[in-house]
Amino acid sequence: MGKSVLSRIVVVSNRVAEPKAGKSAGGLTVGVMGALKQQGGIWFGWGGTTCTGEAKDAELKRRGKITFATIELNETDFDAYYNGFSNGSLWPLAHYLLGFFSYDRSQYEAWRRVNTTFARKLLPLLEPDDLIWVHDYHLFPLAEELRRAGVTNPIGFFLHVPFPGIAVLQALPPWRQILQSLCMYDVIGFQTEQDREDFLECLRFAGLGGDRRGNDSGRIEAIQRRLTVDVFPIGIDVDECAQQAQESARLASVQRLERALMGRPLIMGVDRLDYSKGLPDRFRAFDQLLSDYPSSRGQLVYMQIAPPTRAGVRAYQDIREELEQLTGNINGRFAEPEWVPIRYLNRGFARPTLMGFLRLARIGFVTPLRDGMNLVAKEYVAAQDPADPGVLVLSQLAGAARELTSAVMVNPYDGRGVAEGLQTAASMAREERVERHTDMLAVLRKNDINVWRQRFVEALENSRQATGAGARESAYGDR
Ligand code: G6P
Repeated sequence: MGKSVLSRIVVVSNRVAEPKAGKSAGGLTVGVMGALKQQGGIWFGWGGTTCTGEAKDAELKRRGKITFATIELNETDFDAYYNGFSNGSLWPLAHYLLGFFSYDRSQYEAWRRVNTTFARKLLPLLEPDDLIWVHDYHLFPLAEELRRAGVTNPIGFFLHVPFPGIAVLQALPPWRQILQSLCMYDVIGFQTEQDREDFLECLRFAGLGGDRRGNDSGRIEAIQRRLTVDVFPIGIDVDECAQQAQESARLASVQRLERALMGRPLIMGVDRLDYSKGLPDRFRAFDQLLSDYPSSRGQLVYMQIAPPTRAGVRAYQDIREELEQLTGNINGRFAEPEWVPIRYLNRGFARPTLMGFLRLARIGFVTPLRDGMNLVAKEYVAAQDPADPGVLVLSQLAGAARELTSAVMVNPYDGRGVAEGLQTAASMAREERVERHTDMLAVLRKNDINVWRQRFVEALENSRQATGAGARESAYGDR
């Protein structure tokens, strides 16, 4: 398989996030940066600004081994594509939160137009040997667009979020078209076995195929194409997290937090301010803990870092208001002159600072209502002092729960259960904490960010060998 080292990787995602000091990043950014840092390549996508009229060609910036290639998007289309169909339709659907779901056909059409723009702007940058690796739900139809333009390179897709079961997917009027578009990839990767099974079940239900070919369980046939559909749980750079966490003990911000805690155990959550993260339920569970276990009052401090995100979507504005009210209510009822139970920080922090905070925390509080993976859960484990680690309280509905089985597992909808989980974690003896942490660290090391990248790139290389992909004839004509 030595050849994969030679191929250039072209990563495509909605947002290209060149790392900036003081900015916290979502799971996709963390994962893609971790992968590109090792192998290098191009990262193509939206640069964060909009324009009126037609988008210009990609702007290229080289930083070491990585070339960041960014485009602007037409502002009207962008709103419908990003706030509308991607985050108002697909996001809630993928997270099984149909109460937040809405659909508007014109938004779907804009979403498809933006995918055409992505394909057109990417095309001039491609070389025949490139492996194209597309990320996340914003770009489901990109392979179809690229194929239409004559691209025959191997194209892979990795879904960072869950794939919904057929009963949920059917709420989306163009569900069948989306499945068909996905079949134009050579490799489709999911976070968990459940996601893969749901996808295959959807293909079968739609009559598009999905049956396994031969003994290799990952190879299937759909709409007369052969593709690989496999599970690639995203990992982290364990050593980098551990080192940052250790070194960050020296940062003034981390030292200030430690002093302010005055020896009180810290419960910590770090999430984008997203309704899928279950933050109101989490705050209520903490309230339940303070009510059910009086000894925790005046003692435990819960710090929630939640930088705002997707402010153009109504549901994200609502959740912000709800959390502000909940924080005020809980702090108002329980606070003492020398102790405030919840510290709610509505902003992001630089990664080293975050790692330092996570290391200080006695409990990592990660309870999404549904999550593709959740890298904070993994980062929390990697950031701990192995000799005296904290405890991860983890939602069983996060993809990470499939791997981090030694966490204290909770159902995020069960407030009493979550409070009990917190109490178990807070009173856990060091011996058990060390045992659980050792187990989880071993899992993280075995399937780290490099394994994730290598396995996916290898699957893409194999698809080149299987289909002889490589040549290209443009259907867009003169570029
Ligand atoms: C999640 C999604 C990513 C997205 C990230 C940040 O992790 O899976 O695709 O990039 O959230 O969201 P944003 O809308 O700010 O890019």
